[in-house]
Amino acid sequence: TKKAVLGPLVGAVDQGTSSTRFLVFNSKTAELLSHHQVEIKQEFPREGWVEQDPKEILQSVYECIEKTCEKLGQLNIDISNIKAIGVSNQRETTVVWDKLTGEPLYNAVVWLDLRTQSTVENLSKRIPGNNNFVKSKTGLPLSTYFSAVKLRWLLDNVRKVQKAVEEDRALFGTIDSWLIWSLTGGANGGVHCTDVTNASRTMLFNIHSLEWDKELCEFFEIPMKVLPNVRSSSEIYGLMCLGDQSAALVGQMCFQDGQAKNTYGTGCFLLCNTGRKCVFSEHGLLTTVAYKLGRDKPVYYALEGSVAIAGAVIRWLRDNLGIIQTSEEIEKLAKEVGTSYGCYFVPAFSGLYAPYWEPSARGIICGLTQFTNKCHIAFAALEAVCFQTREILDAMNRDCGIPLSHLQVDGGMTNNKILMQLQADILYIPVVKPSMPETTALGAAMAAGAAEGVGVWSLEPEDLSAVTMERFEPQINAEESEIRYSTWKKAVMKSMGWVT
Ligand code: G3P
Repeated sequence: TKKAVLGPLVGAVDQGTSSTRFLVFNSKTAELLSHHQVEIKQEFPREGWVEQDPKEILQSVYECIEKTCEKLGQLNIDISNIKAIGVSNQRETTVVWDKLTGEPLYNAVVWLDLRTQSTVENLSKRIPGNNNFVKSKTGLPLSTYFSAVKLRWLLDNVRKVQKAVEEDRALFGTIDSWLIWSLTGGANGGVHCTDVTNASRTMLFNIHSLEWDKELCEFFEIPMKVLPNVRSSSEIYGLMCLGDQSAALVGQMCFQDGQAKNTYGTGCFLLCNTGRKCVFSEHGLLTTVAYKLGRDKPVYYALEGSVAIAGAVIRWLRDNLGIIQTSEEIEKLAKEVGTSYGCYFVPAFSGLYAPYWEPSARGIICGLTQFTNKCHIAFAALEAVCFQTREILDAMNRDCGIPLSHLQVDGGMTNNKILMQLQADILYIPVVKPSMPETTALGAAMAAGAAEGVGVWSLEPEDLSAVTMERFEPQINAEESEIRYSTWKKAVMKSMGWVT
């Protein structure tokens, strides 16, 4: 049969904490032509530990690419029209592998993992100079969240890693580096690189000079020879890449100072573009590299509010409590009651991130009565995602001085209409969502399609003509919104200090 004729196509690998996806877009309209998704296992070998198998992650990428190409074939679309592939990925998750065999030397230590709590405590006692040493260079607080301490743990505790470093065989990378090295040849000449956005989440990267920082590497005792080369977020290195949250910022076309987006994935990440300025937060937000779309293009920065647990709470209700069989069922349960009936759920499974940065917090469900049922708990779980977003939005507004007039959102959870309405009610501003929620992958595809030497995407609004917007307006009164939010804050206080 004759193949359908289309403009140039661009693919995107979106490797998230919960799943891997491969998506193919028409670069003229941003229309999503086909995609495939595979869920990724998470292992919890001990309390607070979260690991994933790097080979399973790689395999899932191959599977998604293969299946998507099959689906394109069924649609009579010629896959030779795919001109570039972008990568967006869960950030911070740390892999060390052997460059001669291509074998990972340990499981990937996932960003949510808390095993480095004592490493962080010990390091914080010997921060050189003033306490600002790490934050002023990296924009980040010293926390279990970022890669440097995970790599330190691997170097201290895994004999295979120590030996490979001694023998000059070890390579370190976040998931982007692991995938790009493997997909560009692996042990037979794979490219060992990362981009500025992922590098900015390692706690080893100087966000001003855009280089690995010698003093930070000395402080964390990380041998610089294991680190990947740092490149821009949009150039040909086999493939292009961006950390997933930066990719979503690009996919939402937040290129102007003050534009922001919130992505609901495993966690929830609100990023506000601060332009060429590095703005440091006074209210618990991170300063991070937003993107650098080309070798000779300027770097842009963002303020970020990171929430550790968003979609992960739904997965927990499914896998640990079994009150739903599929993640989509949560909407039906919540809709049955339309209220949490005074039940509040703080899903601080990995401590609390922004704006508290409180590793001692643990999850709690409170306000229970004999009347409470699983529908109320489901509703409270959705509300928790919205309250956490409100906390980071408040911090963002305080740091930026100009409150956001509406919130642009994306990510798989935004298909949930109850969640979107709740979010508008709790923020008390409109929430605006694109018809196609896979904005992270779209942003990675746009960065890939716009790279010098590819040039099939111009990053102009007309190139998103296939994307329409849906708007959710607040429907409750402001007083009710405030009462619910202040009760949430009371619940948050109760979640703190569980681990000493
Ligand atoms: O910082 C972690 C973040 O990049 C993970 O994103 O999409 O897996 O929630 P996601």
